Amino acid sequence: MKNIKLAMPSLKEARMRKNVNIPTIRYALDEKYKNLGLGKTYYIFTYGCQGNEADSEVMCGILEQVGFQKSTDPMNSDLVILNTCAIRENAEQRIWGVLGQLKGRKRENPEMLVGIAGCMPQEENATQKILESYSFIDLVIGTHNKNHLPQLIAEAYASKAKVVEVISSEGDILEDAPKIRESKHKAWVNIMYGCDEFCTYCIVPYTRGRERSRAKEDILAEVKELVKAGYVEITLLGQNVNAYGKDLEGEYTFGDLLYDLDKTGIKRIRYTTSHPRDLDEKTMLAMRDCKSVMPQLHLPVQSGDNEILKRMNRKYTYEEYVTKVERLRELVPDIALTTDIIVGFPNETRAQFENTLNLVKNVNFEGAFTFIYSKREGTPAASMPDTISEAEKHERLTELNQYINAGYLKGHQRFLHQIVEVLVDGPSKNGEDMLCGYTPHLKLTHFKSQDTSLVGKLVKVKITEAKTWFMIGELCE
Ligand code: SAH
Ligand code: SF4
Ligand code: F3S
Repeated sequence: MKNIKLAMPSLKEARMRKNVNIPTIRYALDEKYKNLGLGKTYYIFTYGCQGNEADSEVMCGILEQVGFQKSTDPMNSDLVILNTCAIRENAEQRIWGVLGQLKGRKRENPEMLVGIAGCMPQEENATQKILESYSFIDLVIGTHNKNHLPQLIAEAYASKAKVVEVISSEGDILEDAPKIRESKHKAWVNIMYGCDEFCTYCIVPYTRGRERSRAKEDILAEVKELVKAGYVEITLLGQNVNAYGKDLEGEYTFGDLLYDLDKTGIKRIRYTTSHPRDLDEKTMLAMRDCKSVMPQLHLPVQSGDNEILKRMNRKYTYEEYVTKVERLRELVPDIALTTDIIVGFPNETRAQFENTLNLVKNVNFEGAFTFIYSKREGTPAASMPDTISEAEKHERLTELNQYINAGYLKGHQRFLHQIVEVLVDGPSKNGEDMLCGYTPHLKLTHFKSQDTSLVGKLVKVKITEAKTWFMIGELCE
């Protein structure tokens, strides 16, 4: 196998953050690639978090600018890219599975280009495995070089050899890249990239590089454009949005950004994800004061045990978390809180797990993503001793989910018989003649209507039924 370009990631290098100035790259198409994809089709598989969904929208934009057309059939496309996630082992397993299918297809159609992007190629051992066992993959693209996509594809076509370009850099900020957004009324808006938290279980700080914030002028300009284009809702994205601005000059924080975005005329603002330690008073005040900031917050707690939190390097205690939640509820009394929880962190005892259950009972979450700890090679937690059996971990997850599911139901029941505002997303999977969308508190709501002209609009719905996973209501005339 010949590698015409070989840049490999290194977790060790990724850990050594350098205090360099993060460059902002203004994307400009190199004219020589402008017909690169003419007459060809592409398909992107997207896994993982909203950050990856937003990245896929940029890759679509870049590919379509050079002539590629979106296909609905991955197995019959000229270019297939897997935008991958490395957060847990089962996320990776799924991707190896799809790669297995593509391998067969590639044998029948050797002209098809297969690329792998996103977080998996940023891990040393995944990239090794790709080079050794998945040699049919033509392109290995890291998270720091979407802007090189046309050049990398051109090299792969020209040389018929594998192109690997994965660097473990601090990262950069890509502005002005074309984007093809999935939705016409809801948009992702990146406000920062990377993560400097280094929670001991997590691979993200290694795969995504240093915490770096976009200039507020670029963010505000993007949101003003979205308002002009008729968008109703934005979700601000970052691994730790509350750290926004800390790497920039001046005192401008996430709370300031919320106040400024509120003035752009966008109707709904959400943000994810928040780190409890960095959630500050100004942000909470902005949630109270800004009409467009929705009364809903995802605030991952991970564990309710102080010793485990310490070993996770979360930098807050149970008590500090609860104090922030109490303050939030003083300011935004009806706020809907959701969280992330990991069970079975190395050597978590039954008593420590029960502290998590106690926290869940006390805080009244209205939803949570719950996970069994998954060992990520190269992270500090991977070398912590762990004697808890897999069966015990699964039992804990099931037990925890009973409380979490009760929270979902309660969160829906509190809206029974009330009139709520729903941003209509499209046809509902709950019935032929139904539409669905989300309320300000991010509650999925289904209602009877065949009027698809309502998609993208805010409508009033009276809630008639509350289930665990959704609400049902009637459209108010
Ligand atoms: N930056 C976000 C989370 C990104 S990852 C935050 O800190 O809130 C999403 C969730 O995946 C995390 O909140 C955590 O609960 C979970 N997670 C991350 N690494 C994990 C691992 N190694 N095993 C199990 N769950 C993990
Ligand atoms: Fe991972 Fe922690 Fe960063 Fe979230 S804050 S991405 S859990 S290291
Ligand atoms: Fe996964 Fe990377 Fe996002 S590991 S969760 S795609 S930052």
